Amino acid sequence: MAEPSLSRPDLPDDLEDAIVALKEERNAVILCHYYQDDELQDLADVVGDSLALARAAQQVDRDVIAFCGVHFMAETAKILNPERTVVIPDLEAGCSLADGCPADEFEAFVKQHPGATVISYINCSAAVKALSDVICTSSNAAKIVQHFEGQPIVFAPDRHLGRWVSKQAGRDDLVLWPGTCVVHEQFSARELAKLKVRHPEAEVLAHPECDEAVLDQADFIASTTGIITRAVESPAGTLIIATEDGVFHQIAQRAPEKELIQAPGTDESCACNRCPYMRLNTLEKLYLCLRDLRPEVTVPDDVRVKALRPIERMLELS
Ligand code: 13P
Ligand code: SF4
Repeated sequence: MAEPSLSRPDLPDDLEDAIVALKEERNAVILCHYYQDDELQDLADVVGDSLALARAAQQVDRDVIAFCGVHFMAETAKILNPERTVVIPDLEAGCSLADGCPADEFEAFVKQHPGATVISYINCSAAVKALSDVICTSSNAAKIVQHFEGQPIVFAPDRHLGRWVSKQAGRDDLVLWPGTCVVHEQFSARELAKLKVRHPEAEVLAHPECDEAVLDQADFIASTTGIITRAVESPAGTLIIATEDGVFHQIAQRAPEKELIQAPGTDESCACNRCPYMRLNTLEKLYLCLRDLRPEVTVPDDVRVKALRPIERMLELS
């Protein structure tokens, strides 16, 4: 008996061309985070960090937004564009930070700190955003915390980013929700120290979601856009990078002569530096979501209205 075919008969041979054609047919825009597969980045209208993508979502004039990123990013685009259709290639593309901060538990946490300004990292659900006074991303977090100088602050959900921001803003009194990113927390300070001995000429670039012991060894700490820009502009020819390796694609295009080394993790046997949620999105699923206009990302209206103000406030402040 013949083996069942593994190919998908409903997929065109040239997926890239088909996606470009479908995008026009649907009057769609493709927004894409740097942690997506290279071929998704290459097809996108905008590739950026969380802040750039929120800004791009605010300016969309197309009927459909196909969001190549994780769910909280697509949700943010929907909150800013209630009248447009927002689709995501894989609805399961979540985030350990968002999943680790359920809205009911966060509401109880906030109630324990009456009078505090609630600053939430954009990596959280719409329901948590709705409980917040202002949103931030890794590229504007320090500035936003500094804006609320002298006021008590609850900062959620990433404790590593929170601690780094506390230092940047000269505050040691931030109340932190104890969340972490499964990708960034796996970088090993011990292995990084060994790697630096082998590459004394290298500059170390890290994302502030990394553990403090990793950040202490970094020469430069920034969002994904900040890391890419620094990697391209740095006088160093060798760069050790402590973030998801999706950023390598942009750096390699803009500075092909540079040697890029992934910061080591605690477990050499796994590709733990790849975000398991981001990488659920594929070219095939992007084609299908543009073709079928699903899975669609929706936000209940009462939550959407409450979540909009803190996002807009962030965009005004940054
Ligand atoms: P930025 O792109 O804003 O640096 O965020 C990184 C990240 O982990 C997104 O989930
Ligand atoms: Fe969330 Fe970390 Fe993945 Fe970013 S890299 S989406 S913070 S799990």
